[in-house]
Amino acid sequence: EKYQENAIVLEQKEIASGIFRLVLQTKEIAAQAKAGQFVSVYSKDPSKLLPRPISLCEINKTKGTLTLVYRVTGENTGTEEFSRLQKDDTVRILGPLGNGFPIDAAEGKKAFLIGGGIGIPPILQLAREMKADKQMVLGFRDSLFLMDEFQAEGQVYVATEDGSAGTKGNVLDAIRANGLSADIIYACGPTPMLRALKAYAEEHEMVCYISMEERMACGIGACLACVCKTTDKDAHSNVNNKRICKEGPVFDAREVEL
Ligand code: FAD
Ligand code: FES
Repeated sequence: EKYQENAIVLEQKEIASGIFRLVLQTKEIAAQAKAGQFVSVYSKDPSKLLPRPISLCEINKTKGTLTLVYRVTGENTGTEEFSRLQKDDTVRILGPLGNGFPIDAAEGKKAFLIGGGIGIPPILQLAREMKADKQMVLGFRDSLFLMDEFQAEGQVYVATEDGSAGTKGNVLDAIRANGLSADIIYACGPTPMLRALKAYAEEHEMVCYISMEERMACGIGACLACVCKTTDKDAHSNVNNKRICKEGPVFDAREVEL
């Protein structure tokens, strides 16, 4: 079940250049949500009808709060409007949406939890819910964020594009540089990173779940703007298209074409 709410802003802070952390008080959504799901966030600007999908970075079921961490993509965007929200303001959200990460698949296994760029936030809630042996590998452009929160969950390895922290390069460079290995991968990040992880998982015969943060429109499965090709064949043996917002955003990497 999903809920539409006017969530109350408890806190908003810029945690790295252009990256904001927004804490929201919800009535129902936090209690129902799980790692890897997202909310649709609505603009107050009538010219911006479509909601912006933002992943759940932290879910506090006791307090009924959600934390969203998002990047402002430019001037006059919806995300720029959200970045101006202040304590006690309200914002319309719809959720929880999407399927979330299949956490049980890691039981008894050693898992890589991998986040790249603005795909890092949902990995935090995943790390908190996952009891299996886990190693977190985070790829940043330059400045780091959410590091204290991640380090509280276990061992964290970092890659930066500019080499300012951790391994210079991407998450796979950090995995190789630190000689890491695992049995199963959970990842969220930009498509080139997910494509590289899909190939790495195939090479090492690992199961790999990826969360795809592609372009979306309605967010509720109605418009088909977000379809991706999967190898899941239907009765007529045609390639089956799946909606990222509804059947996803998390898929078994073997099923999707990237
Ligand atoms: P505008 O240019 O004003 O957006 C115009 C339209 O394009 C809007 O309808 C917008 O929703 C859509 N759009 C543009 N880029 C994207 C995109 N990459 N994905 C989907 N729709 C897009 N970003 C974060 O910073 N943090 C997150 O946790 C996060 N989680 C996401 C989870 C999912 C499932 C998806 C699909 C995307 C997620 N994104 C996240 C990306 C975020 O939705 C876009 O950056 C945002 O919608 C851009 O909106 P805007 O108002 O800044 O830009
Ligand atoms: Fe409309 Fe997925 S965004 S169907």
